[in-house]
Amino acid sequence: MPIKELAVSAEHLSRHFGSFHAVQDVNFHIPEGEIFGLLGPNGAGKTTTIRMLCGILPPSRGEATVLGFNVRSHPEQVKKRIGYMSQLFSLYNDLTVEENIRFYASIYGLQSKVQNGRVEELLKEVDLAAFRRERTANLSGAWRQRLALACAIAHRPRMLFLDEATAGVDPLARKEFWDLIYRMASQGVSILATTHYMDEAEYCNMIGMMHEGSLIALDTPDAMRARIGGNLFQLTVDRPLAAEELLRTLPVVKEVSLHGVLLHVQMKTASDTRALRRKLHASGIHVADLTEIEPSLEDVFISLVDEQDQHKIQTRKD
Ligand SMILES: Nc1ncnc2c1ncn2[C@@H]1O[C@H](COP(=O)(O)OP(=O)(O)OP(=O)(O)O)[C@@H](O)[C@H]1O
Ligand SMILES: [Mg+2]
Repeated sequence: MPIKELAVSAEHLSRHFGSFHAVQDVNFHIPEGEIFGLLGPNGAGKTTTIRMLCGILPPSRGEATVLGFNVRSHPEQVKKRIGYMSQLFSLYNDLTVEENIRFYASIYGLQSKVQNGRVEELLKEVDLAAFRRERTANLSGAWRQRLALACAIAHRPRMLFLDEATAGVDPLARKEFWDLIYRMASQGVSILATTHYMDEAEYCNMIGMMHEGSLIALDTPDAMRARIGGNLFQLTVDRPLAAEELLRTLPVVKEVSLHGVLLHVQMKTASDTRALRRKLHASGIHVADLTEIEPSLEDVFISLVDEQDQHKIQTRKD
């Protein structure tokens, strides 16, 4: 297989605001045509990372190249070659769907003679041709997102940054949106997407998990899950809160988290769960079900953050 070119390369990328480290020593690569997912809770540093890669915010330390251009020395070259759908993408509500696309196409410098053809292509690509004369204000959240995508790719960028592009839309619309992204990647467009929805990471070739400015894990979705495979159990009990508290005190238990009324218990080793049942039973908690489960990426994230916190506590003690 030929070696793919790198669409993005970030080396020791860091950004601080005063003494606050929003992004610290982040390293990753995105080969051409791949989808890279950046996951992490609020304030993890995802948007700050994207802003540096888009040439909008200069890094405090480290280097990054996007489509071969250094973001620090050639931000303008980067900006005109990428597509960026920001967390707060702005569409003009008073314009129609088609007018919004035309507006962005002209901002990106598309000549009027190529504009018509490209507008038609885009309307078709995001399936908005039937709504071309609709005022943008009247569109549902899901349609607005598709329109924002069309605007962001009007100039056929080879690299696309999506910052929480699917926030607030229903699962079906999210899936359709990701199908579009997937299709673009198969045509060679490289994509970096941030999301709060861990299930969306399944679409990614590679995932980076961010926490407090650092990249705490970098792997494929399967490899991420394999990190805690074999020792994750789901429990249904009559008193989940009491059970959670009790399980936390057991030495064989590494991590407990509550998912609705269900408990996810990660054991330190793939050990016998009879001890869990016994302890819960002894405290008068009834276990209705205990099953081994495939870890979700959320479980992996919780486990990684826990490991990191433990490490911090340990280092403080030493
Ligand atoms: N211009 C700025 N000045 C000071 N602090 C900032 C600035 N921009 C971001 N921060 C801080 O840096 C941290 C990381 O912010 P960032 O927006 O990158 O997080 P995020 O992972 O995108 O979060 P969210 O999921 O909420 O979008 C936050 O604590 C934020 O308050
Ligand atoms: Mg953000």
